[in-house]
This record gives sequence, C-alpha cells and structure tokens, in this order.
Amino acid sequence: MGFYSEDILSEIRSSADIVDVISQYVSLQKRGDNYVGLCPFHSEKTPSFHVSAEKQLFYCFGCGAGGNVFTFLMKKENINFPEAVRLLADRLNINLPPNEYERGTSREFRQRREQLRLNKMASEYYHNVLLNTRDGKRGLEYLKKRGITLETIERFRLGYAPPLWDGLIKHFQSMGVDANTLAKLGLAVAKKNASGFYDRFRDRIIFPIEDAAKNVVGFGGRIIGPGEPKYLNSPETPVFSKGENLYAISMIKKDPALDVIIVEGYMDCISLQQSGFTQTVATLGTALTPMQAKLLKNYTGGVILAYDTDSAGQAATMRGMEILAREGLNVRVLRLAEEKDPDEFIRKKGREAFERQLSEALYYIDYKLYLAKNDTDITAPEGKIKYIKKAVEVLCEIENKVEREVYLQKISSELNIPAQALKDEIIKKRFPDNGFKYKKSPTRDNNKEFSKISPITGAYKAERLIIKLFVENEAVREKIAENLTPSYFLNERTRKIAGALFEMLRSQKPIEPDEIFNHLDQDASSELSGIIMTNSEFREDGMIDSLVKKIKENYLKHAIKQVREQIQKAEAVGEREETIILLNTYQKLKSQMDELKANLNAEKGGV
Ligand code: UTP
Ligand code: MN
Repeated sequence: MGFYSEDILSEIRSSADIVDVISQYVSLQKRGDNYVGLCPFHSEKTPSFHVSAEKQLFYCFGCGAGGNVFTFLMKKENINFPEAVRLLADRLNINLPPNEYERGTSREFRQRREQLRLNKMASEYYHNVLLNTRDGKRGLEYLKKRGITLETIERFRLGYAPPLWDGLIKHFQSMGVDANTLAKLGLAVAKKNASGFYDRFRDRIIFPIEDAAKNVVGFGGRIIGPGEPKYLNSPETPVFSKGENLYAISMIKKDPALDVIIVEGYMDCISLQQSGFTQTVATLGTALTPMQAKLLKNYTGGVILAYDTDSAGQAATMRGMEILAREGLNVRVLRLAEEKDPDEFIRKKGREAFERQLSEALYYIDYKLYLAKNDTDITAPEGKIKYIKKAVEVLCEIENKVEREVYLQKISSELNIPAQALKDEIIKKRFPDNGFKYKKSPTRDNNKEFSKISPITGAYKAERLIIKLFVENEAVREKIAENLTPSYFLNERTRKIAGALFEMLRSQKPIEPDEIFNHLDQDASSELSGIIMTNSEFREDGMIDSLVKKIKENYLKHAIKQVREQIQKAEAVGEREETIILLNTYQKLKSQMDELKANLNAEKGGV
C-alpha cells in the first residue's frame, strides 16, 4: 500500500480491538475463546460469524468472509483500505498526517467525513448556545420545566438554535465554511426570492441525532412557544436517512437479553432514559421500517413498543409490530392508561408505575386479541361472535401448534365455548375448501417454490400465457373462467391477476389493461406488465384446453405433495382431527388427478 508508515498502522491496530469495532455492527456473544454473532455479510438465522480477540481476526463459516479489522470495515462500510484506516483513526482519535491519507481516499469518503465533522461542530455550537448564552436561557428554562436535568442535557448533547436568521451561518463563516455547504447538510436553506441562505433551525431546542457509530447525522428541533411545525427535522441528506436511523441508538447496549423500548418522540425517549430505562430509542417522525428493525436486531432479541395512545399511535403500533415480528424480533406492546405518551405517564405516575406497565406489556398475539376484544361487547351474542371471528383469524397466524393450543384453551375458557368448536373454525380457515394451503407468498426474488417447478413443468409459463390470452382475446374469456378458478394458479401474482380478471368478467367490467391495474397491487401489476409485454404465439386449436390441463395438473401435483407433508406432520404430533380432514382432502385431490389423467389419456388415445 505504502500510504501509511508501518508505525501508524501498528498504532491503530494495537489501539483498536476488533471485538469492539465489530460490536458496533454485530451483536456478539462470547463462546469459548471466540465471539460469535449473526453474519453481517449474508443472511442467516443461526450465528456462524466468529471473531477472535486473541488473533484479531473474523471469519464466517457460513459465507467464508474473513479478515482483520481493516478488512471488516472495508467490507461493511464499502470503503477502500486507506479509508478504513482513516475511519478507524478518527474513531480512536489518532491523528493521521493529512497528505498521506488524502492520496488513497475517494472523494465521496472525504466528503462524508467532512460532512460528519461539520454536523458535529453544529451540534456543539447549539449545545453551547443552550448552556452559555442569553438566547439559550429560554431553552434551559423550558427543559427544566419539563423535568429534564442538566446531566441529561449533557448526555444527549441537547442544544438551542438562537432566534436569528444567520446564527449558525455566521458561526461557520468565521471558520471558513460557506452556507452552501451547510445547505447540503440541511442546516441552512437557500432563500426563495433572493440570493443567499438562512438558518434552518431558529429559536428551537435542538436534538442531535447520532447513528450507531456515534456520528452526528441529523437534527430535530422543537419549538418552545406556539407555532408550526412543533418539530422541524433535518431533511434527508447524504449522511441522514430517517428510515434507517433511530434516535438514541448509539446510547443503548447490545444485549439479546435486554428488551429495547421503542417510542415515538424525542422527548419520550429522553424522559424514559432519564428515569433509568436506558434501553430506549425513538423513531424519527416516520413509520418503522424494515431497515430499522434490522438495525435493532443487532442489539436485541426483543422489543417493546410504547407508542402514543392516540389513534395514530395505535395504527403505527399495528404496522410496527408486523415489521418487527417479520425480522424475527420478539414483540411486546405496552399499554398506557389515559396518559397520551410515555413521557407524560412517567412524569405523572413515576418510575415504578412504568416498570409495572412494562411487565404487563402484551405479546404480539395477546395484543391482537386484546384489540379484537376491545372494540366489541362480548357479553352480547353478536359481539361474542364478532370477537370469535377475529380471534380465529389471529390464532390462524400462529404456526407453532403448542402455542396455538395454549391460546385456544385460553379463549375457550374465557368465552365459555368448547375448544373443539374453535378448533373446527381454525382448521376450516387454515385448510380452506380442498385443504390445500398456499405457502407464504413467493416473491419474484425469493420464489423457491416456483424456481423449482416452473422450468420443469412450464406451469408458470402456462399460467402467464392463459392470462395473456384472457386479456387479449374476448372470445376465450368465458371458456377460461369456466374451467379455472384463481386458486388453481400456483404463483401468487398470477393468482391475484386471475382473481381480478375473473371478478371483472363476472361483474361485466370492461377488461382493459389500465383498468385491470387498478385492481392489482404492485407485484401483480409488474407481473401483468411483463405478461402483456411478452410476445407469444397463439394457436387456436386446443391451446386453451392444454393450458388449462397443465395448470390443473401442476396445481394438483403440488397440492397432493403438500397435503401429504401436512398429514405426516399432523400424525407426528398426534393431531387426530387434522389428520382425518387432511386424509379426506388427499383422497379428493387424488381422484381429481386420476380423472385429469384419464381425460388426457382418452384424448391421446383418440388422436
Ligand atoms: P409528538 O408530538 O408525540 O412528540 O411527536 P413528543 O416527543 O411527544 O413531543 P412533546 O412531548 O410535545 O415535546 C412524535 C414525534 O414525531 C415527530 C418527531 O420526531 C416527534 O418526536 N414530529 C412530530 C415531527 O417530525 N414533526 C412534528 O411537527 C411533530
Ligand atoms: Mn410528548
């Protein structure tokens, strides 16, 4: 390499512990002499990523990624060697001779580094204004009134933006940083009808937002008096994305055994942390994203949602739960009483009361049942029926049989309804009409079910072709709809399209492509575009028949295989009723298949 002296490199290497560095990205557990965790370079459920403190190396037995601390940063941050050296030196506060590093680093890297440095400086500027200037007094008083201590102000580096149009701009000007550069960071805004810039944040309490590596990436600002908006946030910038960060993520511990509390507001987060609930983070004014769930997965195995009690908060809770659960996090939901948010709760009722609330937080399923019950009066028969319907839907989601059984018993005794009745409902729902249950939606990228079967059977092709014919040929529509139902389509997207098309035919809607798109979700829409755009030849004679048969045959083959597996599973756990129902289904499917084959043979014989 030659950009750095060996002295500097070895200084960095010896001050950086690979376990510490990697811990910023991966939740590591000590196991024997090594640390292990989930590999950040490929997707896995059981940890095969090993870090050796003694050898200062990492290696993943799953995907083969490995190397030293520099290699790790290069791979993880997508940077080159000189950049990794620079990054690590920064984090360790080691000074590098500037011209040496300049030679090897890319423009983007230098720019990002500079932007983070300026953000940090801005954060210190606001912090100083809050603590040491007359302008900051109002801010200090406000925070004090809300019970925030000086210690907390320090911990969160809270600040104050003075009531000036160019406080920050002037401050940076004196150090040779122009306003245009600040505008790229969202700290200054270009004037609309004149040249020049003004400060984005004015007369507001400032909440610096750090990423997991403790870089200041953005800011939130709260107005003190009346006015709009209550909170102003940094816009999306090259170093800040609201959907990928969480407020206070850099302050929580990585420990699978410690649940992380997720709240909606900066003030909720600060208030809880100040009361001792130090494993608390906040979203940044947007709905929880899968990226944020993945980020949390590095820190913990369980989360507790403690959103506001208003309807927006409840809706966000529902969406958040699904996203977190999908990432494999154990989700619980905290219910506040009449208080509007965790901050208000803890200030009114205190630490112990919140502790109690935490211990009573409901698991995902319980919370859904609680909601289902909450808006019905289960003492009245209609209410009871409504609740049972919803409860059955919730129970159907539970894949684990033991868990399902536990809930089933609970609801049965609660409502005084025989468990068997509920069981029947669940079985009916889980194994609709003919007992074949589609696997979870195969997507384009993760369509294992299909990539396995489609090249061999061509059934997927047949499904697409018949949809194409249906759309383009009015004459064949009736025939197709008579011979097939959407459930025969094995691919989730073609199934959705078929469902929409058959429904449109039934209700005599005009079947035009742009009309159809109104009835489809994104995936199905792109699928349909693909189908329409793909050329294929149409031979009138018998083509529909053979396509229908191919689709049916494939469906039956698949269904039979799956039901057979389900029977084995049900037998293995001694699930008698399910086994009997499934055996019935199996017989039905088998005879349908025999019939289809007989028809095929008869035709072949006839030619
Ligand atoms: P809240 O209004 O619940 O915030 O909005 P809060 O923290 O409880 O505020 P206080 O207690 O009145 O000071 C929740 C979050 O939504 C975002 C912010 O991130 C806020 O913390 N928000 C809210 C905005 O971005 N803009 C707004 O105008 C309001
Ligand atoms: Mn609040």
